[in-house]
Amino acid sequence: MSALLLKKPGKQMNAKCIGELLIKGELFLKGNGIIDAEQEAVLLLSYLLSRERSYIYINRNMPVPSIKIEKFNQWLKMRSGGTPLQYITGFQNFMGLEFAVTKKVLIPRPETELLVEKVIQLIEMFPERKQICLLDIGVGSGVIPITICHYFKDKNKNIDFHAVDISSEAIGLASRNARRLHCQNNIHFFQGNLFQPFRRKEQFGYFDGIISNPPYISKNEWDNLPDEIRLFEPALALLGGEKGIDFYKIIIKEAPEFLKPGGFLALEIGHQQKNIVCRLINDNTNFQEEIKTFRDYYQNDRGIIAFKRASC
Ligand SMILES: C[S@@+](CC[C@H](N)C(=O)[O-])C[C@H]1O[C@@H](n2cnc3c(N)ncnc32)[C@H](O)[C@@H]1O
Repeated sequence: MSALLLKKPGKQMNAKCIGELLIKGELFLKGNGIIDAEQEAVLLLSYLLSRERSYIYINRNMPVPSIKIEKFNQWLKMRSGGTPLQYITGFQNFMGLEFAVTKKVLIPRPETELLVEKVIQLIEMFPERKQICLLDIGVGSGVIPITICHYFKDKNKNIDFHAVDISSEAIGLASRNARRLHCQNNIHFFQGNLFQPFRRKEQFGYFDGIISNPPYISKNEWDNLPDEIRLFEPALALLGGEKGIDFYKIIIKEAPEFLKPGGFLALEIGHQQKNIVCRLINDNTNFQEEIKTFRDYYQNDRGIIAFKRASC
């Protein structure tokens, strides 16, 4: 009885409401050099309480259980130490879908949303094609195949995706994301090196399209990346060799062997890689001469689409 009486006032003293935590979080993050401190504090609280951001703004007087406050304090320390927000909350939004992420995979980026948009437009240009067979190389958290399958789910098109990654952790996470977002029946996951799992073509047939956001950071760029990326995100997902083009060389050389005639190769590229990647494609006579490129909202070149010749 006396123990209970002793505990109760302590608990009440610890109790804080959402508004207080928001102010504390913002000040703490700002004091530790986080630029978007208010937005990040709101986001952390919304994940902590499993609520929409609007709930955080509207319910400032709502008390927060002490166990959650402890977690919030831990998260603030992690964030101030440079851990990316997404590795703390465990999630990243990609084209309106919530993807689980861990520090073993790249945090999905908006540039990749553009790549996905372009691929969706390409597929939509052939409304008569009901069955589309695609390959994603370097699947990471699974954003590319899962978003595409999700988009076409109720659109009378059957997407048969194959997805490969050299990292077993990436394959595990991407499979979990596929299940969470109800696309597991459309995507076959393989752990392996680039095209290696698909060498036995009689088993896989040919692909209508190959998509990849491969590692493309050069050694020099790597040395100059912000700590938040270089110290926390996996080098395996970022480093593309001395000049950043090792993966493009292999993918462009080998893709025609795995594509149907007229099939497409869609690649995300670094903003200074358009010329070199276009040259690699033009040097390969299996591809049509015309190459499509696309830019991000800052007018940087961020993607390339090439087509295999109809006969070769
Ligand atoms: C830039 S990340 C892209 C991840 C994801 N597709 C996205 O857009 O967020 C590149 C991915 O390629 C994978 N990777 C690296 N080397 C590979 C290889 N030799 N074969 C297959 N995948 C590889 C990495 O593990 C990583 O998941």
